[in-house]
Amino acid sequence: MATSPSLLFLSCFILHLAFASTPINAYSYSTKSVVLNNIDTCWRTNSNWASNRKALADCAIGFGKDSIGGKYGAIYKVTDPSDDPINPKPGTLRYAVIQTQPLWIIFAKDMVIRLKNELIMNSYKTIDGRGAKVEIANGPCITIQSVSHVIIHGITIHDCDPSKPGLVRSSPSHVGHRLGSDGDGISIFSSSNIWIDHCFLARCADGLIDVIHASTAITISNNYFTHHDKVMLLGHSDEYIADKIMKVTIVFNRFASGLIERMPRVRFGYAHVVNNKYDGWKMYAIGGSSNPTILSEGNYYVAPNNSASKQVTKREKKGKLKSWKWRSSNDAFLNGAYFVPSGYGSCDPNYSHAQFFTAAPASLVPAITFNAGPLTCVVGKAC
Ligand SMILES: *[C@@H]1O[C@H](CO)[C@@H](O)[C@H](O)[C@H]1NC(C)=O
Ligand SMILES: *[C@@H]1O[C@H](CO)[C@@H](O)[C@H](O)[C@H]1NC(C)=O
Repeated sequence: MATSPSLLFLSCFILHLAFASTPINAYSYSTKSVVLNNIDTCWRTNSNWASNRKALADCAIGFGKDSIGGKYGAIYKVTDPSDDPINPKPGTLRYAVIQTQPLWIIFAKDMVIRLKNELIMNSYKTIDGRGAKVEIANGPCITIQSVSHVIIHGITIHDCDPSKPGLVRSSPSHVGHRLGSDGDGISIFSSSNIWIDHCFLARCADGLIDVIHASTAITISNNYFTHHDKVMLLGHSDEYIADKIMKVTIVFNRFASGLIERMPRVRFGYAHVVNNKYDGWKMYAIGGSSNPTILSEGNYYVAPNNSASKQVTKREKKGKLKSWKWRSSNDAFLNGAYFVPSGYGSCDPNYSHAQFFTAAPASLVPAITFNAGPLTCVVGKAC
């Protein structure tokens, strides 16, 4: 079939799972047949995924596209779910993530990892949960601080707690005294080239994913968010103007039931919020303060039933709100949802050729976000 750029996402991306007996309407999502979005298309149909794991590193789109994670490193297999924040044992996740050389980290078996303090990641790491059921839960969770090139794929992060002050190792040669974390699922601080894909995040003490302190070049895709108050904060304070450099792509995520606000909330930076599915919210979906620029494109917004909360948008400040550039393009609004735009001039992400992708029509979003969250991947079969 001839493809024009705008039809790229439709070309041969229909994956029939083993138990789907008949080809089913590609636009339907209440079946075993899924339409793949243009991240998943890049790798999911390959039944050899387990021997080609690093192919995933080439599949991001948007601002986090250049994130290579551990692409040029060895495979490291986590065998031991235990944790020692100061002297991590070989075989544990913490031992792997603090190393200085690039590593592509995988898991030998299903495991629940209850961390005793923040997991402080070093640069050039991929955490790849494919083929195992990996949970980081009921303790402090992940900190990505002053590093670059991190990919986190296919893990479940829930019930994250604040950590107590204490010593935590951040590299083989450095143990630092930490003041205690807030209880985020994933905290991204002064870091760049980060890609978070196909994770499940719920019920943390603070944010599910927070991006702060001049972090940029980030893609947050294919994640399943549920049961949480403050979902995603882009910019920690309204005084920290270095956050103006922040560019984040939020794409193909499912903002599922039990969420209250911040999907995302942006302070100074730029957010391209595209092809996400919102299953209601309690207060609002997209918020901001400090003059952020937001392009909402091809999302599928289902408003909550409460007639007081139908507005997608919320501006958290008084003043010149009308000049803030907030644009909605080809979004679908259901159950009375509405977006209040503002500002004038271009809101375009100005992606490089490599980062660029064409948004799917909003009507396809239920199908292309149907497999948000970790996938069940069996060796020798397409995921
Ligand atoms: C709104 O109410 C309908 C009918 O009770 C229900 O099926 C639906 O899930 C509700 N929607 C949300 C977003 O809560
Ligand atoms: C893209 O360029 C336009 C025009 O210069 C600008 O208004 C917009 O803010 C830019 N987008 C980003 C993400 O910087």
